[in-house]
Amino acid sequence: MEMEHQAMNVKKLSETTVALLADHKGLFAMDESISTCNKRFSDAGIPKTEENRRTYRELIIKTTGLNESISGIILYHETIRQSDEAGIPFIKTIEDAGIVPGIKVDIGTEDLAGFLGEKITEGLDGLRYRLKEYARMGARFAKWRAAILIGQEIPSRNCIISNANALARYAALCQECSLVPIVEPEVMMLGSHSSKKCYQVTREVLSTVFEQLYLQNITLESMILKPNMILPGQDSGEKNTAEKIAENTIKCLMECVPPAVPGIAFLSGGQSPREASNRLNAMNQISASNLPWKLTFSFGRALQQTALAIWEGDDLNKVSAQQEIYHRVKCNRAANIGLYSDEMERRD
Ligand code: G3H
Repeated sequence: MEMEHQAMNVKKLSETTVALLADHKGLFAMDESISTCNKRFSDAGIPKTEENRRTYRELIIKTTGLNESISGIILYHETIRQSDEAGIPFIKTIEDAGIVPGIKVDIGTEDLAGFLGEKITEGLDGLRYRLKEYARMGARFAKWRAAILIGQEIPSRNCIISNANALARYAALCQECSLVPIVEPEVMMLGSHSSKKCYQVTREVLSTVFEQLYLQNITLESMILKPNMILPGQDSGEKNTAEKIAENTIKCLMECVPPAVPGIAFLSGGQSPREASNRLNAMNQISASNLPWKLTFSFGRALQQTALAIWEGDDLNKVSAQQEIYHRVKCNRAANIGLYSDEMERRD
């Protein structure tokens, strides 16, 4: 019986992983917490109400043709319980479109006690029970983000180990509940560090994460890594071409990510939508099937930023905003095949 259960568990994890990485598609991160979503609304002059958050998320998931480029959608605990205007649960609309629903399960970052300026991601307490509930609701994968800041004398070794350990404990609980863990250790773009520094820190972070995943007995074949690209700090003034970023990112990943991991889905981390597409495209051009893992996207802002600016909270702009979402996901699917170009951005 136990063996049977184990076998089914592995089968389910494997089916979800395959579905998420199929057909050059990517993941749509619409998993902003209430406060992050409210902040984005504030910046765009949109009233910060629960109904506006619901309407906006409905607009995204009901974008016609979203499933041509998107394999999975990451929801948030408010969103996973919401329904469209007609009362149809978001989860059902997502599943009916052939898209896999997932859920962000960390509860955000707090100051790391005793380590000034560093963050630890919270949410392990009671996680097993929350995961079971999300799985019952229909989620098939989950996401946990660690935020690593680069600054003077940071990140500390303790910050890296503590966050990597939390990521690995989260991943173990996910696999126990037959949810595919998306493991997201984000080395942030904030700051004035060089791309060389980003490389060194990302290398240390990823190596530590895989050491911890190994300690927690994670089935690497049934997880997806969600890393940052190797970028200079946003205030550094350093400029890198998409090709250079692609080369450094792939080199760093090759040094740290075991070939058993089936897929790597990048976060966008504050890059502009076009920068993110260009750099993903350059990576997929270099790799041209010579890498052990598939490379794809799990962008939040790089898919939503321009559409949110078009929507402005006004129903009259809904269709234009959906067309923009359709366009961005299509560009990124093209980038997954190395076929994205500036030409694609010309839509007249
Ligand atoms: O955790 C962050 C999101 O899943 C990805 O968001 O692409 O805006 O960095 P981003």
